[in-house]
Amino acid sequence: MQAFLVSENETGFSGAWNHVSEPELLDGHVRIQLEYSSLNYKDALSYAGNKGVTRKFPHVPGIDAAGVVVSSQSDFFSKGDEVLVTGYDLGMNTFGGFADLVAVPENWIIKRPIGFSALDAMILGTAGLTAGLCVDKLLHNDIKPDQGSILVSGASGGVGSIACKLLSKLGFNITAVQRDNTKQGFLESLGVTDFISMDELLAGDGKPLLKPAFAAAIDVAGGKTLAAILKQIKPSGSVAACGLVDNLALDTTVLPFILRGINLLGVDSVEIPLSQKQAVWNKFAEDWKIDAQYQLIEREQLKDYLEALLKGEAKGRYVLKLK
Ligand SMILES: NC(=O)c1ccc[n+]([C@@H]2O[C@H](COP(=O)([O-])OP(=O)(O)OC[C@H]3O[C@@H](n4cnc5c(N)ncnc54)[C@H](OP(=O)(O)O)[C@@H]3O)[C@@H](O)[C@H]2O)c1
Repeated sequence: MQAFLVSENETGFSGAWNHVSEPELLDGHVRIQLEYSSLNYKDALSYAGNKGVTRKFPHVPGIDAAGVVVSSQSDFFSKGDEVLVTGYDLGMNTFGGFADLVAVPENWIIKRPIGFSALDAMILGTAGLTAGLCVDKLLHNDIKPDQGSILVSGASGGVGSIACKLLSKLGFNITAVQRDNTKQGFLESLGVTDFISMDELLAGDGKPLLKPAFAAAIDVAGGKTLAAILKQIKPSGSVAACGLVDNLALDTTVLPFILRGINLLGVDSVEIPLSQKQAVWNKFAEDWKIDAQYQLIEREQLKDYLEALLKGEAKGRYVLKLK
């Protein structure tokens, strides 16, 4: 089969489409012929040789995969089943979705909801699942549209763009953190109505609390971005934190928590039970159906787009066409 193999050499890491052996079909595993994969920040890190994501090279990245079962050693899946896989070890240390085929354990696999195509699944991918989990957590913490605007960092990226589309569909007012204003039109097309520049967000750097301006937030950045967000959430508000594109460190005080009752909600889309993933996928196939912004890319364009993700230049979602 063909796969995008990342190898380590004297000068660093490089990736190219290569012929590799088909994955072994172990007991309890399922082999899937892929129609689409998608690009996530984590794939870019794996492509760049980040050992926190992928320990062993050569490696095939791709944390998302959607297609049809071609052979099965599982009692739960049969040839022809329409499926999708996101997270767990796929694309990290298990060969991932940038390939014609993957072979994965049965307990990583979601049967796609009826009418939900492989393309629909990969337009959302891990980024969409994560955005859905963030919104779900905010809703479970009683955040409602009349309480004020929801602040979203990295709003133009994969997670952020789906979060904005979904929040907008659910009737929320959205404020995007802007690092510059080059993506303003794109952000408006996602339903963003208000903007705060990164400089403005970070302006009260030395202060433990700032004027409460937002009902809740979804943060993909961590670091100083998340620290600044926590200071500006209204009392009893919530922040769903899922990423680290700014920094994995978090330098804050306890004041937002003990004086304003702010909830910091951690979001993991990778290792959670399959049933929790299925619940969010079902919502996206029904009540949460959104018209997400995406770009379809061909195999030979993959490298360029992974490089763009590494530079923080993502705009919406990128779907890799495999079939
Ligand atoms: N917890 C989980 O299960 C989970 C799942 C998926 C992703 N993630 C994490 O979530 C983050 C976003 O993933 P993604 O796939 O959406 O990535 P992405 O498509 O690359 O988008 C990230 C966006 O963040 C903004 N950004 C870039 N550099 C920044 C910086 N230094 N400070 C603040 N903002 C910056 C940019 O948007 P603007 O230009 O609009 O600012 C960029 O488009 C990553 O850290 C990823 O690892 C976590």
